Amino acid sequence: MEICTSVPEIRQAVAGFRAAGESVGLVTTMGALHEGHLTLMRTARADHDRVVATIFVNPTQFGEVADLAHYPSDDEADIALLRAEGIDALFLPRVETIYPPGDQTIVETTDLANRLHGKTRPGHFRGVATVVARLFNICQPDAAYFGEKDYQQLQVIRAMVRDLHFPIQIHGVPTVREADGLAMSSRNVRLSPEDRAAATVLSAALDAAEARAGQGGATVADLEAVIRTTIKAEPRATLRGLDITAADGLAPVTGPVDRRLAIMLSAEFGSVLLIDQREIDP
Ligand code: PAF
Repeated sequence: MEICTSVPEIRQAVAGFRAAGESVGLVTTMGALHEGHLTLMRTARADHDRVVATIFVNPTQFGEVADLAHYPSDDEADIALLRAEGIDALFLPRVETIYPPGDQTIVETTDLANRLHGKTRPGHFRGVATVVARLFNICQPDAAYFGEKDYQQLQVIRAMVRDLHFPIQIHGVPTVREADGLAMSSRNVRLSPEDRAAATVLSAALDAAEARAGQGGATVADLEAVIRTTIKAEPRATLRGLDITAADGLAPVTGPVDRRLAIMLSAEFGSVLLIDQREIDP
Protein backbone atom coordinates (compact mmCIF):
# COMPACT_ATOMS: atom_id res chain seq x y z
CA MET A 1 0.00 0.00 0.00
CA GLU A 2 1.35 3.39 -1.00
CA ILE A 3 1.02 5.98 1.77
CA CYS A 4 0.72 9.46 0.30
CA THR A 5 0.71 12.64 2.36
CA SER A 6 0.84 15.23 -0.45
CA VAL A 7 -1.52 15.99 -3.33
CA PRO A 8 1.06 15.25 -6.09
CA GLU A 9 1.86 11.85 -4.50
CA ILE A 10 -1.74 10.59 -4.40
CA ARG A 11 -2.48 12.05 -7.85
CA GLN A 12 0.54 10.19 -9.23
CA ALA A 13 -0.57 6.94 -7.59
CA VAL A 14 -4.08 7.24 -9.05
CA ALA A 15 -2.69 8.28 -12.46
CA GLY A 16 -0.58 5.10 -12.40
CA PHE A 17 -3.68 2.96 -11.84
CA ARG A 18 -5.50 4.71 -14.64
CA ALA A 19 -2.56 4.37 -17.03
CA ALA A 20 -2.87 0.60 -16.50
CA GLY A 21 -6.57 0.81 -17.44
CA GLU A 22 -7.72 0.19 -13.84
CA SER A 23 -10.81 1.69 -12.19
CA VAL A 24 -10.59 3.34 -8.77
CA GLY A 25 -13.02 3.24 -5.83
CA LEU A 26 -12.57 5.70 -2.95
CA VAL A 27 -13.46 5.40 0.74
CA THR A 28 -13.04 8.63 2.72
CA THR A 29 -12.68 8.24 6.49
CA MET A 30 -11.67 10.13 9.60
CA GLY A 31 -9.71 7.11 10.83
CA ALA A 32 -10.46 5.06 13.98
CA LEU A 33 -11.39 2.37 11.48
CA HIS A 34 -13.91 -0.33 12.33
CA GLU A 35 -15.87 -3.04 10.55
CA GLY A 36 -18.22 -0.42 9.05
CA HIS A 37 -15.31 1.23 7.19
CA LEU A 38 -13.90 -2.14 6.15
CA THR A 39 -17.31 -3.07 4.70
CA LEU A 40 -17.21 0.12 2.58
CA MET A 41 -13.74 -0.89 1.36
CA ARG A 42 -14.80 -4.46 0.55
CA THR A 43 -17.80 -3.11 -1.38
CA ALA A 44 -15.48 -0.76 -3.30
CA ARG A 45 -13.11 -3.69 -3.95
CA ALA A 46 -15.92 -5.79 -5.42
CA ASP A 47 -16.65 -3.03 -7.97
CA HIS A 48 -13.15 -1.73 -8.77
CA ASP A 49 -9.61 -2.82 -9.64
CA ARG A 50 -8.08 -0.43 -7.10
CA VAL A 51 -9.25 0.95 -3.77
CA VAL A 52 -7.97 4.22 -2.36
CA ALA A 53 -8.69 5.21 1.25
CA THR A 54 -8.29 8.60 2.94
CA ILE A 55 -7.80 9.32 6.63
CA PHE A 56 -8.35 12.95 7.58
CA VAL A 57 -9.99 14.22 10.77
CA ASN A 58 -11.69 17.20 9.19
CA PRO A 59 -11.71 20.16 11.59
CA THR A 60 -14.37 22.12 9.67
CA GLN A 61 -17.14 19.59 10.36
CA PHE A 62 -16.79 19.72 14.16
CA GLY A 63 -18.91 22.33 15.92
CA GLU A 64 -17.22 22.10 19.28
CA VAL A 65 -13.44 22.15 19.69
CA ALA A 66 -13.81 19.56 22.50
CA ASP A 67 -15.54 17.12 20.13
CA LEU A 68 -12.64 17.45 17.63
CA ALA A 69 -10.05 17.12 20.41
CA HIS A 70 -11.67 13.90 21.66
CA TYR A 71 -12.09 12.31 18.25
CA PRO A 72 -10.22 8.97 18.47
CA SER A 73 -7.12 8.64 16.30
CA ASP A 74 -4.60 5.81 15.88
CA ASP A 75 -2.87 6.03 12.49
CA GLU A 76 -0.64 2.99 13.09
CA ALA A 77 -3.54 0.68 13.91
CA ASP A 78 -5.53 2.08 10.96
CA ILE A 79 -2.61 1.57 8.54
CA ALA A 80 -2.23 -2.05 9.72
CA LEU A 81 -5.95 -2.65 9.06
CA LEU A 82 -5.76 -1.05 5.61
CA ARG A 83 -2.72 -3.17 4.68
CA ALA A 84 -4.51 -6.32 5.86
CA GLU A 85 -7.51 -5.29 3.73
CA GLY A 86 -5.27 -4.97 0.64
CA ILE A 87 -5.95 -1.25 0.09
CA ASP A 88 -3.85 0.04 -2.80
CA ALA A 89 -3.17 3.61 -1.70
CA LEU A 90 -3.80 5.71 1.41
CA PHE A 91 -4.04 9.50 1.37
CA LEU A 92 -3.09 10.78 4.83
CA PRO A 93 -2.85 14.56 4.51
CA ARG A 94 -2.08 17.24 7.10
CA VAL A 95 -4.62 19.98 7.80
CA GLU A 96 -2.56 22.57 5.82
CA THR A 97 -2.61 20.29 2.76
CA ILE A 98 -6.41 20.21 2.65
CA TYR A 99 -6.90 23.78 3.90
CA PRO A 100 -3.90 25.78 2.61
CA PRO A 101 -3.18 29.15 4.23
CA GLY A 102 -5.39 31.86 2.73
CA ASP A 103 -8.08 29.31 1.95
CA GLN A 104 -11.30 31.06 0.79
CA THR A 105 -13.66 28.46 -0.65
CA ILE A 106 -16.48 26.48 0.93
CA VAL A 107 -19.11 24.15 -0.50
CA GLU A 108 -22.61 24.33 0.91
CA THR A 109 -25.69 22.36 0.00
CA THR A 110 -27.99 25.16 1.01
CA ASP A 111 -31.31 23.57 1.92
CA LEU A 112 -30.26 20.02 2.81
CA ALA A 113 -27.37 21.14 5.00
CA ASN A 114 -29.42 23.41 7.20
CA ARG A 115 -32.32 21.12 8.05
CA LEU A 116 -32.61 18.05 10.31
CA HIS A 117 -29.23 17.18 11.90
CA GLY A 118 -27.92 20.41 10.33
CA LYS A 119 -30.05 22.39 12.81
CA THR A 120 -28.44 20.78 15.86
CA ARG A 121 -24.95 20.84 14.29
CA PRO A 122 -24.71 24.20 12.47
CA GLY A 123 -22.00 24.24 9.79
CA HIS A 124 -21.43 20.47 10.04
CA PHE A 125 -22.59 19.59 6.52
CA ARG A 126 -20.82 22.62 5.03
CA GLY A 127 -17.63 21.17 6.52
CA VAL A 128 -18.43 17.69 5.18
CA ALA A 129 -19.30 18.93 1.66
CA THR A 130 -16.20 21.13 1.55
CA VAL A 131 -13.78 18.37 2.56
CA VAL A 132 -15.41 15.70 0.39
CA ALA A 133 -15.29 18.01 -2.66
CA ARG A 134 -11.58 18.59 -2.01
CA LEU A 135 -10.86 14.89 -1.49
CA PHE A 136 -12.76 14.06 -4.70
CA ASN A 137 -10.75 16.64 -6.68
CA ILE A 138 -7.49 15.43 -5.19
CA CYS A 139 -8.09 11.66 -5.56
CA GLN A 140 -10.24 11.72 -8.72
CA PRO A 141 -11.89 8.30 -8.22
CA ASP A 142 -14.51 6.70 -10.46
CA ALA A 143 -16.78 6.03 -7.48
CA ALA A 144 -16.97 6.71 -3.75
CA TYR A 145 -18.62 4.71 -0.95
CA PHE A 146 -20.42 6.11 2.09
CA GLY A 147 -22.33 4.49 4.96
CA GLU A 148 -26.11 4.83 5.09
CA LYS A 149 -25.88 5.43 8.85
CA ASP A 150 -24.93 9.02 8.03
CA TYR A 151 -28.08 9.28 5.98
CA GLN A 152 -28.25 13.05 5.63
CA GLN A 153 -24.51 13.18 4.85
CA LEU A 154 -25.07 10.71 2.02
CA GLN A 155 -27.88 12.87 0.60
CA VAL A 156 -25.76 16.04 0.94
CA ILE A 157 -22.91 14.35 -0.97
CA ARG A 158 -25.25 13.01 -3.66
CA ALA A 159 -26.69 16.53 -4.15
CA MET A 160 -23.23 18.10 -4.28
CA VAL A 161 -21.99 15.59 -6.87
CA ARG A 162 -25.09 16.17 -9.00
CA ASP A 163 -25.02 19.98 -8.72
CA LEU A 164 -21.26 20.43 -9.23
CA HIS A 165 -21.11 17.78 -11.99
CA PHE A 166 -18.46 15.60 -10.38
CA PRO A 167 -17.91 12.58 -12.70
CA ILE A 168 -18.05 10.26 -9.66
CA GLN A 169 -20.64 7.59 -8.79
CA ILE A 170 -21.84 7.67 -5.19
CA HIS A 171 -22.77 4.39 -3.47
CA GLY A 172 -24.59 4.09 -0.14
CA VAL A 173 -23.70 1.00 1.90
CA PRO A 174 -26.02 -0.40 4.63
CA THR A 175 -25.12 0.25 8.27
CA VAL A 176 -22.96 -2.38 9.98
CA ARG A 177 -24.09 -3.16 13.55
CA GLU A 178 -22.69 -4.78 16.65
CA ALA A 179 -24.41 -8.05 17.69
CA ASP A 180 -26.71 -6.10 20.07
CA GLY A 181 -27.84 -3.70 17.34
CA LEU A 182 -25.63 -0.64 18.07
CA ALA A 183 -24.56 0.96 14.79
CA MET A 184 -20.77 0.84 14.44
CA SER A 185 -19.17 4.24 14.88
CA SER A 186 -15.69 5.53 15.71
CA ARG A 187 -17.34 7.39 18.59
CA ASN A 188 -18.47 4.17 20.32
CA VAL A 189 -15.03 3.70 21.93
CA ARG A 190 -15.62 6.92 23.91
CA LEU A 191 -18.72 5.52 25.64
CA SER A 192 -18.45 4.44 29.29
CA PRO A 193 -19.46 0.78 29.79
CA GLU A 194 -22.83 1.96 31.17
CA ASP A 195 -23.43 4.32 28.23
CA ARG A 196 -22.30 1.61 25.79
CA ALA A 197 -25.00 -0.67 27.20
CA ALA A 198 -27.58 2.15 27.14
CA ALA A 199 -26.77 3.14 23.53
CA THR A 200 -28.61 0.09 22.18
CA VAL A 201 -31.76 2.14 22.86
CA LEU A 202 -31.20 3.89 19.50
CA SER A 203 -31.66 0.74 17.42
CA ALA A 204 -34.37 -0.46 19.85
CA ALA A 205 -36.32 2.77 19.21
CA LEU A 206 -35.97 2.30 15.45
CA ASP A 207 -37.05 -1.36 15.75
CA ALA A 208 -40.12 -0.24 17.73
CA ALA A 209 -41.02 2.35 15.07
CA GLU A 210 -40.57 -0.21 12.28
CA ALA A 211 -42.76 -2.69 14.16
CA ARG A 212 -45.45 -0.01 14.64
CA ALA A 213 -45.35 0.81 10.91
CA GLY A 214 -45.61 -2.92 10.16
CA GLN A 215 -48.87 -3.16 12.12
CA GLY A 216 -50.55 -0.94 9.52
CA GLY A 217 -52.66 2.21 10.01
CA ALA A 218 -49.75 4.12 11.60
CA THR A 219 -49.17 7.84 11.21
CA VAL A 220 -45.84 9.65 11.25
CA ALA A 221 -46.86 11.05 14.67
CA ASP A 222 -47.36 7.47 15.96
CA LEU A 223 -43.81 6.55 14.91
CA GLU A 224 -42.43 9.69 16.56
CA ALA A 225 -44.32 8.88 19.77
CA VAL A 226 -43.00 5.29 19.86
CA ILE A 227 -39.42 6.53 19.41
CA ARG A 228 -39.71 9.28 22.05
CA THR A 229 -41.23 6.84 24.58
CA THR A 230 -38.49 4.24 23.97
CA ILE A 231 -35.67 6.78 24.31
CA LYS A 232 -37.24 8.39 27.39
CA ALA A 233 -37.28 5.01 29.14
CA GLU A 234 -33.45 5.00 29.01
CA PRO A 235 -32.25 7.57 31.59
CA ARG A 236 -28.69 7.69 30.18
CA ALA A 237 -29.93 8.88 26.75
CA THR A 238 -30.79 12.48 25.86
CA LEU A 239 -32.66 12.74 22.58
CA ARG A 240 -31.07 15.48 20.44
CA GLY A 241 -32.72 15.02 17.06
CA LEU A 242 -35.63 13.08 15.62
CA ASP A 243 -36.67 13.61 12.03
CA ILE A 244 -38.99 11.54 9.90
CA THR A 245 -38.86 12.57 6.26
CA ALA A 246 -39.47 11.27 2.75
CA ALA A 247 -36.58 8.89 2.02
CA ASP A 248 -35.81 10.64 -1.27
CA GLY A 249 -35.00 14.34 -0.89
CA LEU A 250 -35.68 14.39 2.87
CA ALA A 251 -38.84 16.54 2.57
CA PRO A 252 -40.89 16.81 5.78
CA VAL A 253 -43.84 14.39 6.03
CA THR A 254 -46.97 14.14 8.17
CA GLY A 255 -50.06 11.92 8.17
CA PRO A 256 -50.30 8.24 7.29
CA VAL A 257 -47.19 6.13 6.75
CA ASP A 258 -47.88 5.40 3.09
CA ARG A 259 -44.52 5.95 1.37
CA ARG A 260 -40.83 5.18 1.88
CA LEU A 261 -39.66 7.17 4.89
CA ALA A 262 -36.31 7.88 6.53
CA ILE A 263 -36.05 8.14 10.30
CA MET A 264 -32.97 10.00 11.53
CA LEU A 265 -32.17 9.92 15.19
CA SER A 266 -29.46 11.47 17.36
CA ALA A 267 -28.97 11.16 21.10
CA GLU A 268 -26.30 12.02 23.60
CA PHE A 269 -24.83 9.52 26.06
CA GLY A 270 -22.65 11.48 28.48
CA SER A 271 -20.71 13.78 26.13
CA VAL A 272 -20.90 11.41 23.13
CA LEU A 273 -23.39 12.20 20.38
CA LEU A 274 -24.50 9.11 18.44
CA ILE A 275 -26.72 8.89 15.39
CA ASP A 276 -28.73 6.12 13.81
CA GLN A 277 -31.13 5.82 10.92
CA ARG A 278 -33.73 3.50 9.41
CA GLU A 279 -35.66 3.46 6.16
CA ILE A 280 -39.28 2.39 6.54
CA ASP A 281 -40.92 0.96 3.43
CA PRO A 282 -44.60 0.29 4.23
O1 PAF B 1 -18.31 10.09 7.39
C1 PAF B 1 -17.17 10.50 7.66
O2 PAF B 1 -16.31 9.78 8.21
C2 PAF B 1 -16.81 11.94 7.36
O3 PAF B 1 -17.89 12.79 7.54
C3 PAF B 1 -16.19 12.12 5.95
C4 PAF B 1 -17.18 11.73 4.85
C5 PAF B 1 -14.94 11.26 5.84
C6 PAF B 1 -15.80 13.58 5.72
O4 PAF B 1 -14.88 14.03 6.65
